[in-house]
Amino acid sequence: MSTRERLLNSLLRRKPTTALGRELYVDPQVFELELEQIWYKDWLFVGHDCELKSPGNFLTVQVGAYPVVVVRDRDGGLRAFHNSCRHRGSRICTTEHGSAARLVCPYHQWTYALDGRLIAARDMSGGFDKTQYSLKPVHCASVGGYVWICLAQVAPDLAPMREHLEPYFLPHHLNRTKVAFESTIIEEANWKLVWENNRECYHCAGNHPELCRTFPEEPVITGVSGGFANERIANKWARWESIGLESKYRISADGQYRTVRYPLIEGATCYTMDGKAAVRRPLSDSVTEEDIGSLLLFHFPTTWNHIMADHATTFRLLPLSPTRTQLTTKWLVHEDAVEGVDYDLKRLTEVWRATNDEDRRVCQENQIGVNSPAYEPGPYSAMHEEGCMQFLDWYSRHLHQRLEMAPA
Ligand code: FES
Ligand SMILES: [Fe+2]
Repeated sequence: MSTRERLLNSLLRRKPTTALGRELYVDPQVFELELEQIWYKDWLFVGHDCELKSPGNFLTVQVGAYPVVVVRDRDGGLRAFHNSCRHRGSRICTTEHGSAARLVCPYHQWTYALDGRLIAARDMSGGFDKTQYSLKPVHCASVGGYVWICLAQVAPDLAPMREHLEPYFLPHHLNRTKVAFESTIIEEANWKLVWENNRECYHCAGNHPELCRTFPEEPVITGVSGGFANERIANKWARWESIGLESKYRISADGQYRTVRYPLIEGATCYTMDGKAAVRRPLSDSVTEEDIGSLLLFHFPTTWNHIMADHATTFRLLPLSPTRTQLTTKWLVHEDAVEGVDYDLKRLTEVWRATNDEDRRVCQENQIGVNSPAYEPGPYSAMHEEGCMQFLDWYSRHLHQRLEMAPA
């Protein structure tokens, strides 16, 4: 049986009320198929507009086998290219962030303009036609302050996502923020285990003493009912929508992304140890209300987010191997906020740094147990783990559709 058939079978046999079978978390061939059918075909969050403010600013990212560079061009547009030189293939931009007037390959110095055109190639013989060796483009777009790329030949239509996300995100002016701190950690776990862990708070009380000071563990927050029946949430939504902040739970038709603004626990406005703002200057000049709860976005397979009145914390997940996942976290503050004056870095970052480390540990232990031939998926808690089931429903349906469309 081919890997494709095996995978289709396991997806068809899947019980929607349990986690997945072992092979879907450990098998290198399954991982390859996920790269091909999900990671190389969907829109992926890679970074923020604010990291690419001026022409020549670039960021790089590695998605499976593909190194990609995203750059701000001379006209202020965003472009993404395969970060592989058209001469003999060397990676061109080798740092995670940088700035350059031209992209120069470090190997033999072939030189590309910011729009990808090859503009200099030393000592190539007479008939060499530079116009044939531009960098290969990758789809790239900005939505609400988030930069997305898509490696597919034909990218999925971005219009529905833009229409959904922009009303929630535009008031926060993320393009006028800056990254105050960034951390990257490696979780020794399959990317889906990292997502399942993110989509429930059943584990919070036992593992997250810092986060639990401010983050409500109520199942409604990670569930799929949205909280329409919860009076406290409904009152907050009414208040926030009256000041122009889109807040109600909304999930895309295919379940790939969701936005909602939820209150933190009573009296808290921010994920700090005391629940008070970490940054004196509001994140956005047009949102001055202190308590706007936290705007939550998830978008499978790359990102979950928390946008508060004073700062935002955004997460990017990338798969490294069947049992390794990279998680990059960025703390965004107003672009004019000054460290040591408007905020203290330790206070700003301590809760999520601790929480990430705790999640890293539980995901790693989860993987070690799942690696065991004795592992058998047990039932989810209907009360607390609806979000996991929703994630795996999306994953199974999505992968199934893609596999059915893919040539055998
Ligand atoms: S590989 Fe880039 S210049 Fe030779
Ligand atoms: Fe967690």
